[in-house]
Amino acid sequence: MTNPPASTGILHRLRTETRPYHDALEQNRFNRELTAGTLTPEATEHFLAKMYGFLKPYEDQLRQHHFAPEWAIEQRYRAHLILQDLPANAAALPLCPALPPLHTWPQLLGAMYVLEGSTLGGQVIAKQLAKAAIPARTYFSGYAERTGPMWKSFCQLLSQAVTPENEDEVVASAGHTFQHLDAWITT
Ligand code: HEM
Repeated sequence: MTNPPASTGILHRLRTETRPYHDALEQNRFNRELTAGTLTPEATEHFLAKMYGFLKPYEDQLRQHHFAPEWAIEQRYRAHLILQDLPANAAALPLCPALPPLHTWPQLLGAMYVLEGSTLGGQVIAKQLAKAAIPARTYFSGYAERTGPMWKSFCQLLSQAVTPENEDEVVASAGHTFQHLDAWITT
């Protein structure tokens, strides 16, 4: 039996090899309180401010790179959505000083997998927030009904961009991104 080509195996690898990190992130205070029904608007704002602190410098890095039109990269920027959910002055929000390395194309692809994938969980969270009557849902709603198609198209582009030579670097970057995000959110 031969191994599947990188283009079909990468999504499976990313999902399985980063699952422990995803599980750890789901254990953060915000999600635990959300699940327990004890979440407050203040804790929601704290979590959103943390996500802003990560997404803003990450998106600034993405803006340094050229993406072909099919990536629809402008539509994938979401940090500004968080500002619609927060009363605070954006300039006052602390930014994460320790992003994962985002210099190479494979590093970017791995990080994008994590942040694009988070739109899937965002849909679940937006519904839970609605049930809890917490109004700060612009960011979590994200691409809304376009979430599925945006994810599918990202996965296709990712699969095409990954080669046997850069696959390990993409997977490693996704792991680093989860770890850096978790460390930032829990501090
Ligand atoms: C900021 C934190 C989070 C990040 C970065 C993140 C990241 C990801 C990624 C990368 C995927 C794609 C997995 C794949 O390859 O299919 C994903 C899927 C998903 N996540 Fe999260 N996630 C986060 C938080 C959450 C939370 C708190 C929940 C729980 C409400 C959640 C629920 C889900 C669900 C339901 C899916 C879809 C799983 C599937 O369709 O197989 N996520 N997330």
